[in-house]
Amino acid sequence: MTSSIRFLMCAPHHYEVDYVINPWMEGNIHRASLATAQEQWQNLYQIIADRADVDLVKPQQGWPDMVFTANAGLILGNQVVLSRFLHPERQGEEPFFKDWFESQGHQVFTLPAELPFEGAGDALLDREGRWLWAGYGFRTELDSHGLVAQWLNIEVLSLHLMDERFYHLDTCFCPLTGGYLLYYPPAFDAYSNRLIELRVPPEKRIAIDEPDAITFACNAVNIDRIVIMNKASTELKERMAAVGFEVVETPLTEFLKAGGAAKCLTLRVTEPLHPEPAREGLLSRTVTMTGHLLDSGLVSRALDLVMEGGGSFQVLNFDLGAQRQSTSSADIRVSAPSHEIMDEIMAQLIDLGAVALPTEQQDARLVTITQAGVAPDDFYSSTIYPTEVRVQGQWVRVHNQRMDGVVVIADSPVATCKLLRDLQVGDQVIVGYDGIRSVRSTTDRSRVAPQAEEFSFMGSGVSSERRVELIVEQVAWELRRLRDQGGRVAVVAGPVVIHTGGGNHLSRLIREGYVQALLGGNAIAVHDIEQAMLGTSLGVDMNQGTSVRGGHRHHLRAINSIRRCGSIANAVDQGVLTRGVLYECVKNNVPFSLAGSIRDDGPLPDTKMDLLEAQADYARLIEGCDLILMLSTMLHAIGVGNMTPAGVKMVCVDINPAVVTKLADRGSLESTGVVTDVGLFLSLLVKQLDRLTQRHVVV
Ligand code: ARG
Repeated sequence: MTSSIRFLMCAPHHYEVDYVINPWMEGNIHRASLATAQEQWQNLYQIIADRADVDLVKPQQGWPDMVFTANAGLILGNQVVLSRFLHPERQGEEPFFKDWFESQGHQVFTLPAELPFEGAGDALLDREGRWLWAGYGFRTELDSHGLVAQWLNIEVLSLHLMDERFYHLDTCFCPLTGGYLLYYPPAFDAYSNRLIELRVPPEKRIAIDEPDAITFACNAVNIDRIVIMNKASTELKERMAAVGFEVVETPLTEFLKAGGAAKCLTLRVTEPLHPEPAREGLLSRTVTMTGHLLDSGLVSRALDLVMEGGGSFQVLNFDLGAQRQSTSSADIRVSAPSHEIMDEIMAQLIDLGAVALPTEQQDARLVTITQAGVAPDDFYSSTIYPTEVRVQGQWVRVHNQRMDGVVVIADSPVATCKLLRDLQVGDQVIVGYDGIRSVRSTTDRSRVAPQAEEFSFMGSGVSSERRVELIVEQVAWELRRLRDQGGRVAVVAGPVVIHTGGGNHLSRLIREGYVQALLGGNAIAVHDIEQAMLGTSLGVDMNQGTSVRGGHRHHLRAINSIRRCGSIANAVDQGVLTRGVLYECVKNNVPFSLAGSIRDDGPLPDTKMDLLEAQADYARLIEGCDLILMLSTMLHAIGVGNMTPAGVKMVCVDINPAVVTKLADRGSLESTGVVTDVGLFLSLLVKQLDRLTQRHVVV
């Protein structure tokens, strides 16, 4: 039959299950019957040939999976992106497919070595030609999507495959004529499902259940209203019929043993180019990124977050350096279905260092505040990274850089981060994403570190004693250096410091000039004072580790004594408080700030129960800090983390790995997490400092 539709197939002369590169092949080595396979393939061939043209590529001895021509490459118009197979078992097919494409006059694009992409097995065109659905997670690497998008000049919607049985997109996803979609939702992650739902209206989504999915119902060849597949349940056939599709079943059991069926055995060669599709209801913005894009994983992080955020992307220019490690730049067009989604995505891309185009010529947009303490809905919220904004044609650095602030522009022009609550009527604040860039050097890879390093000691089964020691050595060295050079160190500490016997060590650090500010809550001060005055921490004898009779009232007695004096400083002056962490602060003029909370007893007269006041006090104390030590207090440490700009080193110590991860993971190598007992950490730290000062003091 001669039609405008053509497919490429490859006869199964050399077909067999020879190795295992997907779960279907397991237990099936040499179990497929060649005779049956040939008969099944012939039937499929006939069904397709009755409705379209079929070209054949010569089968090759030693490449048994070559029958699966879907994996030859991805065709659009006259262009084709040749597959780069992940597994060596299939890589030998590449030159044969390349020859065939070239013999047909196609322009062939080849991906950089070691960037897997498995052709039309993992990339399926919307049948209306509006975009390309591309899968990743098993055989295809997300980075390849960017190049495919650029070469074929098409919008790519990346879908993350989650179930290894459905390792290629075409095993669980089949776009159909008229914008319909046959698919198996559990094969995808939640973000991908959301994206699918955003693009395909409910009445066009034919979601199938597992029984149909595992007989490869989605691995179907669609020619107009005909859908050819291995097998379908009655229910599925009825549902398909209800929306005007006729299912043609043809058994392909022998190919299922290799993890493929109807669609895998074919490659649609005629994929007409559609004129630039109208992106109705879709907003688009272009950003540019520069740096070690591939090596650092920046592009995949960027594309990933576009997709996760519910958007899609098209890569316009990707000047890929000569090597994976080269500096390169890429322009990425981001599309999103709504302003909210676009804003969210843009905010994150800017954090990653992307610059919104055509920002070079565009000033940041300013809006005047009309209600004190309230910003316009689309206000730009700041990050910890050094940022510049373009005002009156010039780029100015934002002062008071901190997270979750609003950027206010004053005359001159001066840009400053302010908190929402500090906004005043008449303030000019930045909205949207134009004219904003986060400043990063191209060599700075730390910003893309997937997660700050974590060190585990007592917290996990793995003994990493040595690693904690290493970190302690570094911290000690840093503390020493900062003290000698007049740097600033703040300690954020929780009551656990006292319970775990770290009070003495922390006192010493303060006494010896290593600490320039102490931040905490009511509790650390109460327990420190209780220990100083009564020898217990929450009623537990700190020397014997046993509860003291009537000890549960000790902390109240401590609070009461300080209240009688009027303040901690007065208690020190009057000789009521004679030792401990707070005592050392007072004696050594180290400022401290205690932020109150709902569970506080007392509180101590020094505790700030007005949280706004406490936040302001914290911010004042950490200004200009070089290092912040966060010792077992999630609440105060997160508070401090939010107001600290990038560039300040943070060391978070907690016995709970979840806390450490939360605090250490600011996408920056500047923070280090240590999972260990904080008392132990402090004792090691003090010992190490002693070693550095060549003194031998027993603590
Ligand atoms: N055994 C082949 C492989 O694992 C099967 C390929 C199926 N092709 C497809 N487009 N899903 O690579």
